[in-house]
Amino acid sequence: MEAKALEGVKILDMTHVQSGPTCTQLLAWFGADVIKVERPGVGDATRGQLRDIPGEDSLYFTMLNSNKRSITLNPKNPQGAKIFTKLIEECDVMVENFAPGALDRMGFSWEKIQEINPKMIYASVKGFGPGAYEDCKVYENVAQCAGGSASTTGMLGEVPMVTGAQIGDSGTGLHLALGIVTALFQRTHSGKGQRVETAMQDSVLNLCRVKLRDQQRLNHGPLKEYSQHGEGIPFGEATPRAGNDSGGGQPGRILKCKGWETDPNAYTYFITQAAVWEKVCQVIGKPEWFEDERFKTPELRLPHLNEIFSTIESWTMTKTKFEVMDICNPLDIPVGPILSMKEIAEDESLRNTGTVVEVDHPGRGKYLTVGNPIKLSDSPADVKRSPLLGEHTDDILKEYCKISDDDIKSLRDSGAI
Ligand code: COA
Repeated sequence: MEAKALEGVKILDMTHVQSGPTCTQLLAWFGADVIKVERPGVGDATRGQLRDIPGEDSLYFTMLNSNKRSITLNPKNPQGAKIFTKLIEECDVMVENFAPGALDRMGFSWEKIQEINPKMIYASVKGFGPGAYEDCKVYENVAQCAGGSASTTGMLGEVPMVTGAQIGDSGTGLHLALGIVTALFQRTHSGKGQRVETAMQDSVLNLCRVKLRDQQRLNHGPLKEYSQHGEGIPFGEATPRAGNDSGGGQPGRILKCKGWETDPNAYTYFITQAAVWEKVCQVIGKPEWFEDERFKTPELRLPHLNEIFSTIESWTMTKTKFEVMDICNPLDIPVGPILSMKEIAEDESLRNTGTVVEVDHPGRGKYLTVGNPIKLSDSPADVKRSPLLGEHTDDILKEYCKISDDDIKSLRDSGAI
């Protein structure tokens, strides 16, 4: 079998719920040996959350913990602490996303970890960076709100909106994974470990940077590409919610397609890219618009976006979202069908590329999961099912700690594993 990019890298994975597990799942797909440490008899809380099959690991858990091995271990138990110390000695990276201070309370501060293994890369997710909120426990939607996403998402004049994309949890996990591999690279020169910290608020803000861009542009006048400008609605002090306007300056909207009356996803995104304006006019049956003085330049078109998009919509409503794609794509007119999760689950190309994968699980049978969205030509990711709670405890104790079967039994009796 081909060697994987991170083969040989040993990850002590103390993560739970979503943000940390997203990170370590990526590292596992790249070939790292990810040892997921879970509390004996309990495990990651998500094993039991949103269960669809009684008694079996939930999809919440199985879809975030592929390709990992699970060991049950309680580092608060004195014998458990010895095993944990040995694992810290042996591993390259430790990842955790506990509430602030939880690892210190276990007796394993960053200072202590460095003492045990100076080459250790210690990576954490917290809700906030140092400051007023550093001690807070934080979940997805809190991060979306505190990171600037919610205030800029939704329709103008309506409540702030969170997005279904888990930018606070999974988004932070992605940032953390990059921090870890960067620290591993630096260690090849420095020989030293280091601390990698990612705050959920910061990660969300990084993904929302175009909205902080617009906040500063507001000091110099209205945001002319926002629909509200064309509608004559004045701007306030902060970047407003912009509905489905595109964030990039080229006007875009979500428009109804054939079947919208009964299908909640019969819509397309449609961008009136300046470079293909003439083709847009032709395709929707309005060739005269190309000569129309009101629409001559992108700037002149801005006050007329409602008229323009409602006319385009009269055309898109005569086509399915896929027909719109088939017609516009060859003309380089940027459009995109609003795909439902059902359509995505059934999408053949996503299956072919391994982005949607079917996996077999001994308890729950076959289920779909999202495979590695990052494709490395020399390190393809084969998705393996998530581990059962403590499935690899004995193997890991023998392999990493050279512990005999008899000693494993007494550790189990003591509650350390
Ligand atoms: N053995 C024994 N105890 C263990 C253990 C193990 N293997 N693994 C965890 N624990 C203990 C911890 O030591 C902690 O105990 P303590 O509070 O007495 O010190 C306890 O389990 C729970 O940890 P905590 O992180 O506080 O869990 P929580 O369910 O109360 O909070 C979060 C969950 C996600 C809010 C919190 O972990 C957090 O804010 N994390 C950082 C931000 C984050 O990642 N949020 C998004 C998650 S998707």
